[in-house]
Amino acid sequence: MRKKISVLTTGGDCPGLNAVVRAVTRTADRYGMEVLGCCEGFEGLLPPGNFLSLDRSATAGIMHLGGTILGTTNKGHFIAKIGAGDKAAIPQETIQKVRQTFDTCGLHALIIVGGDGSLTTGLQLFENGMPIVGVPKTIDNDLEATAITFGFDSAVACVVDAMDRLHTTATSHRRVMVLEVMGRHAGWIALYGGMAGGADVILIPEIPFDLDRVSETVRQRDKFGAKSTMVVVAEGARPKQGGQYLHTVMGGEYRLGGVGEVVGHEIANRTGKETRVCVLGHLQRGGAPTAVDRILGTRFGVHAVKLIHENKFGMMVSYADDCITEVPINEAVNKLRQVPPDCQIVQDARASEISFGD
Ligand code: F6P
Repeated sequence: MRKKISVLTTGGDCPGLNAVVRAVTRTADRYGMEVLGCCEGFEGLLPPGNFLSLDRSATAGIMHLGGTILGTTNKGHFIAKIGAGDKAAIPQETIQKVRQTFDTCGLHALIIVGGDGSLTTGLQLFENGMPIVGVPKTIDNDLEATAITFGFDSAVACVVDAMDRLHTTATSHRRVMVLEVMGRHAGWIALYGGMAGGADVILIPEIPFDLDRVSETVRQRDKFGAKSTMVVVAEGARPKQGGQYLHTVMGGEYRLGGVGEVVGHEIANRTGKETRVCVLGHLQRGGAPTAVDRILGTRFGVHAVKLIHENKFGMMVSYADDCITEVPINEAVNKLRQVPPDCQIVQDARASEISFGD
């Protein structure tokens, strides 16, 4: 009898998820395994189980699609991290229900494609005896145990496209343009998107900013005849004296956001320059994955099934030194990977006259 494995996508969606689902299905087929796609994230594991049978025809033509054909959620019964990372245990009652679904559906293993919070949930299921393999995904690129996550390159491409568009309108009007981008507590999207998009100022959570310094950069550029100043602000960026800007607070959970408006308003007040603000938001998460993310997603999917074949559970697929490998999930969820303030890329950005507002 063919072994049954399941794959679920959970947490915020990102481009490249469908490439993973497709690769899991194809690789599993080669190992003689049957794949059930678990729908709506972890919620699909609650009895009686919400599964979609995955085969070559069900996963044909999905590589280029954004989002996830399986659906996802970052709410519900399985939230293991809240806010900036405070851990919350999943109730034993919920874990028992998952075990029941494993037993009734005869599941041999489960692949969890998720970010930091979802892999923390996965770790708990593994510690309760379930055969779990993790696949990292997030546009934020903030997982310590992998050099890169798929979704990041697509998000950066979206930022660069937005910058190219904003640049022409900003220059035409001799304006300051502020672009707020995602990334939670890590500044990778702002740093890469800003550098590639020709930003003059990049504000990231790891380097608290001073609005006087930001305004001084704008004044200097004006003095030297620059037709525009492009400012990229990560949603988690914060001033030297002050905290992050929170958009909404609901049931202990919050969304970052609003810093772009504050920065734009203050620049206009301090410099007298006409300033406009654009919040890129979920455009960064949607649309077709880039080639890099399609390849990374595919390779992660292949490796996840190999791990199951080798009975290596409690592991997360990871990218290191141009190879796909694996690390224990508990190493992956222990620490966020933030931008080291003195790293080479930050130094190179500074050398190319990008200000970090510090
Ligand atoms: O973690 C991915 C991410 O897109 C963050 O960059 C952003 O802060 C958050 O998710 C937004 O979440 P939601 O889709 O729930 O608004």
